[in-house]
Amino acid sequence: MSPSEFVEVKREDFHKYENEKKLDAGHCMLYARLPSQKFEGYDLRAAVLMQMRFDGHVGFPGGLIEPGEEVVHGLIREMHEEINLNPENNKLSEENHVVSHWSPTEKILLHFYVLEVTPEKLTEIEQGALKSHDYGTEVMGTFRVPLYTMSDGHRGFPTFLRNSFVGNAYQQLRRGLLEASIMSEEEIRAAEAVSRTLSL
Ligand code: GTP
Ligand code: MN
Ligand code: MN
Ligand code: MN
Ligand code: MN
Ligand code: MN
Repeated sequence: MSPSEFVEVKREDFHKYENEKKLDAGHCMLYARLPSQKFEGYDLRAAVLMQMRFDGHVGFPGGLIEPGEEVVHGLIREMHEEINLNPENNKLSEENHVVSHWSPTEKILLHFYVLEVTPEKLTEIEQGALKSHDYGTEVMGTFRVPLYTMSDGHRGFPTFLRNSFVGNAYQQLRRGLLEASIMSEEEIRAAEAVSRTLSL
């Protein structure tokens, strides 16, 4: 399904989908800014976490909200199941909500959150993620997104974009990178243009 089929929905309009809606889902982009850390001359910018899912698609930690569960609480529960994030000191709140989309095919409201942590905390999360309940089953790995474009013009972020993203996870990544001022709209568009010229 192409991203254009997902409809952005404002909080005050959630109720309009109440009758048709089967479920809510919540996903979260965890990231840390990396102060001018270079790898082979390329600015790493930030550590943005995504995961390789059981189905071969790339997505964010999170999942389906259970009936009666608040979205934030369901997301905190899923982050515990999938990346072993301690629910007791998970700082996620509604203030971290960035955007929600309606999936007309799945009849799901997809809520997206963005949470900044320190580089030290991010490393701790990555190390703990290997011990999560769902590691090796639902989640095949947690990784950092390469955010630079290498001097050949395509390795790095444009190549990463050749992955298959679950649902509208790519649309969410784009929003997250803009929201956190990690990448500009122009930089993203340039990488997308290159990405479209690449083959497997
Ligand atoms: P189970 O625990 O096995 O039920 O899975 P889950 O609760 O972790 O659900 P999952 O994360 O697979 O997400 C459920 C719904 O959200 C499905 O419709 C997916 O297509 C969609 N989805 C999964 N990951 C993402 C993501 O990162 N972004 C978006 N937008 N949708 C996602
Ligand atoms: Mn090497
Ligand atoms: Mn899950
Ligand atoms: Mn999930
Ligand atoms: Mn679940
Ligand atoms: Mn599960």
